[in-house]
Amino acid sequence: MSLSVPTTNQEVSLLALKSLLRERSVLGALEVFHEQLGDIFQIILPGFKPVMLAGPEAARFVLVSSRDDLRWRSEGDPVTALLRHGVLVEDGERHDMLRRTMNPSLHKTMLSGYVETMWCATDRVTQTWADGERRDMLVEMRRIALLILMETLFKVDFAPELNRLWQPILKSIQYISPGWWVIWPGVPRPGYSRALRQLDDYLFQIIRARRAAAGEADDLLGLLVATPGMDDDLIRDQLLTMLIAGHDTSTALLSWALYLLGSHPETMQKAVEEACALPQNAPPSMEQIAGLHYLDQVIHEALRMYPPIHLGSRIAAQDLDFQGHIIPAGTRVMYSIYLTHRMKAHWDEPARFNPERFAPENNRRRAPYTYLPFGGGPRNCIGAMFGQVESKIVLARILQQYSLMLTQQRVHAHMGATLEPRPGVEMVVKRR
Ligand code: HEM
Repeated sequence: MSLSVPTTNQEVSLLALKSLLRERSVLGALEVFHEQLGDIFQIILPGFKPVMLAGPEAARFVLVSSRDDLRWRSEGDPVTALLRHGVLVEDGERHDMLRRTMNPSLHKTMLSGYVETMWCATDRVTQTWADGERRDMLVEMRRIALLILMETLFKVDFAPELNRLWQPILKSIQYISPGWWVIWPGVPRPGYSRALRQLDDYLFQIIRARRAAAGEADDLLGLLVATPGMDDDLIRDQLLTMLIAGHDTSTALLSWALYLLGSHPETMQKAVEEACALPQNAPPSMEQIAGLHYLDQVIHEALRMYPPIHLGSRIAAQDLDFQGHIIPAGTRVMYSIYLTHRMKAHWDEPARFNPERFAPENNRRRAPYTYLPFGGGPRNCIGAMFGQVESKIVLARILQQYSLMLTQQRVHAHMGATLEPRPGVEMVVKRR
């Protein structure tokens, strides 16, 4: 006998609404639903009725055991409209082919070649900081992440374009962020096409320039251009996918990490000590980066508390059975990374920032699929290693050179394309 999926009835929805208003974040509402209804529940909104799953069994179900029965691509969805045939929104053989093509540029053997760029990009941005001024780290981290992404994977210096393409990039992120379109799919969305065209023009221009230069194929753009059958449109889709997925996530991770460090002075002190022990006048080696154990713990804990990608979204390709609950074909299925990272059954005091929980002696006991900031299974994050190395380098370099004081007292987790600290992370930056 199949059980129906518990739904968000009026009483539970009222509790969730209160939490949403109190915390100014939809995540508070999701926590109420989870608490009241369990690891599987259906959210009932006009025009939008996703089934939400949480917990390690659910993650294994979505990411591994039922992965072939869950599609990523959803026609009519803004993510698909923007990324068209990008690796993120393709399924089956098309996805696997794209992933195989791009994997080498993000393989761990490539990372040591990116260290200097990551280090220098951080300097290029921090050099614009005047001693003692206030800066919003959400903005600054985006600038750094964009410079790094474009220079490492596309081998272009993005600094001259940063101002011109800043708004088009933000617009494209807004285009795929949750909004009215979720419950009203046909809602007119004026004002985006010009921004998206500007981005496209730029991407097609760098593709043409690379084809004309016919240089080495040792970066992502080079690999794509050298792959038979990849036309300019298909390459544009991969570049835009990597541009968005590869910088917006790092921006969120870095700004959350700085917010958490800024609001926990003892942790900040330990992180600064570790960063200051690195050489100051040359980029670190991969061994030195691997030795940043405390920063590692801080980053893992920031990813646990505020996973930039806080849920994964799929469409059931056929009827599915999760623990006796039948999910009909065509249903939107979401697995919540955020809720899984905050389950009391798996995390001691989940709301507390405690990097020590990731110290090696505590780490060993962790059950599988309880910690998934980069997803899991064959569609896990292609940039997981890149993102972790990048965040350690950027944080270490900033902490070496600046002491940071948080002036923004309260932030809330905003559900955009990623989970962002809003209204921002304002800090006073003082040179050491
Ligand atoms: C730094 C923090 C990052 C986090 C927390 C993160 C998180 C994730 C997660 C959770 C997924 C799986 C989503 C799902 O199951 O639906 C994912 C997939 C993906 N990520 Fe990341 N990511 C990060 C950085 C990056 C970077 C740096 C890149 C590229 C350079 C990247 C590119 C991608 C792509 C292309 C996919 C889709 C993979 C596929 O479907 O085969 N991400 N990421």
